[in-house]
Amino acid sequence: MKRTRTSKAWMHEHVTDPYVQRARADGYRSRASYKLMEIDDRDHLIRPGGTIVDLGAAPGGWSQVAARRMQGKGRVLALDLLEMDGLAGVQFMQGDFREDRVLEQLENLLAGERVGLVLSDMSPNISGVPLSDQARIVHLAGLGLDFCRRWLEPEGAFLVKVFQGYGYDDFAREMKSVFKQVATRKPEASRDRSAEVYLLGKGLKETALDKSAARFSSTVIPDKAGMTGKNRTMARGAAQCDGPE
Ligand SMILES: C[S@@+](CC[C@H](N)C(=O)[O-])C[C@H]1O[C@@H](n2cnc3c(N)ncnc32)[C@H](O)[C@@H]1O
Repeated sequence: MKRTRTSKAWMHEHVTDPYVQRARADGYRSRASYKLMEIDDRDHLIRPGGTIVDLGAAPGGWSQVAARRMQGKGRVLALDLLEMDGLAGVQFMQGDFREDRVLEQLENLLAGERVGLVLSDMSPNISGVPLSDQARIVHLAGLGLDFCRRWLEPEGAFLVKVFQGYGYDDFAREMKSVFKQVATRKPEASRDRSAEVYLLGKGLKETALDKSAARFSSTVIPDKAGMTGKNRTMARGAAQCDGPE
């Protein structure tokens, strides 16, 4: 197939990108690894022990950083639509995070254990229709936030990729209603021309805990019965109200 000017330009930018070159030299699977490292150097999110959930993990750059920095203590659960090659210290499951069945599988892997850090670098395939792409991204971010309300430890953190544009302000407001602290991060490895930014929420507000799930009362350890497909469908419906999807 003949290459278009755009794909040639993309390839040129990709191979000459310093972060791509560093990733190759350092053995990371993606340049995105440097985004997480930079944020973590500043915010100290990854600590040995406990559980980290990495949503939208493939090809595995963030999971690698998480597993390395946990130093073999604790576990990383990674999920993606796409297949991902195995990584030491990382338990991977393939599936669409939007599907209730997939969420239930992930919850089963948690086996009642709350999560200290939820990472979401999920981004859908770009269709080229800006409003629809933006709505999909905000929707995925909203599902991640919803997951945090049910599974995050009270003092846990959520790092999520979003794009500035339609629905961003509403999502940022929602983050502020759920977390005690919310900050914006734009790591150097994130290209300037990209509208991508990361929101970091720390410490769940008591009012944000999902009270419909018994396991999220402050004293009860989560069990598998709390979150039903019905709960999630209702939550997802609410998230969709923010966007045109
Ligand atoms: C930017 S990449 C993630 C890169 C990764 N953080 C790394 O460091 O290698 C975004 C990922 O989100 C995944 N994704 C998009 N929609 C998803 C969904 N509904 N469920 C699960 N994964 C999804 C894509 O398949 C893609 O692999």
